[in-house]
Amino acid sequence: MTTQELLDTLWRDFVASTPQAERIHALLAARGETIQNDHVALRTFDAPGIDALALGRVFEEHGWALQADVYAFPQKHLRARYWRHADPAVPKVFISELVLGAMSPALQGTVDALVAQLPGDFGARADLPWAGRPWRITHADYEALREESEYAAWVAAFGFRVNHFTVDVNALSTFPDLTALCAYLVEHGFVLNESGGSIKGSATAGLEQLSTRADTIEVAFDETTARIRSCYYEFAKRYPTPSGELFQGFIATSADKIFESTDARRGPGVKSD
Ligand code: NI
Repeated sequence: MTTQELLDTLWRDFVASTPQAERIHALLAARGETIQNDHVALRTFDAPGIDALALGRVFEEHGWALQADVYAFPQKHLRARYWRHADPAVPKVFISELVLGAMSPALQGTVDALVAQLPGDFGARADLPWAGRPWRITHADYEALREESEYAAWVAAFGFRVNHFTVDVNALSTFPDLTALCAYLVEHGFVLNESGGSIKGSATAGLEQLSTRADTIEVAFDETTARIRSCYYEFAKRYPTPSGELFQGFIATSADKIFESTDARRGPGVKSD
């Protein structure tokens, strides 16, 4: 599998659960834009064999390299790392994980029961980051997880797949800034994640980001089918650091709010704090 085939596989899986991304992509293409991606993001639990480093290993086999930065999200009990590819035109990979040891015994018990359904060699799969949902789960367990951690519920419902693709706004030619892009998306009927304001970060911090509110899709659970929030599309604009190179890292306070793009409780206009 080439790097491009890997990215195409991730994109096909992503748009299958995120129809808005394909619509936005088509709108931008019709405007004459060529879309490049800044990063793709994935989520997991920090359970042995399926943690962020385990998912990252698959990308390392395809030319990505783990970066030193570790981002902590203490309120959500998450941590994240990212990988850069040898080819700078290839998107970075951002992988977050839920720190299970910081969660309640009940949540840990539910997640343990999911992980216990996996075959012993599951973590060695060459397609681990896009393996899909490898466990059965009841809707009741999904709701119980969601009470404590929207993130845990998302991973339990969707398993291993891209959570979002992120358009590289520096590579767009018809939007002077993220404010113009925001207005364009709203004008075309897309709902943005307003938690922390529609634009997170700043030029001085090196990175500005915005994201749509996640689509909803029908997901099958053991006892029923339910419509729940799936995935979203993100946009990132990067600024030069004092050395003159574009900032390539992430900003924890911005990413913290971006995570809430999948949270059904945080509707438009609802304050996050
Ligand atoms: Ni992102």
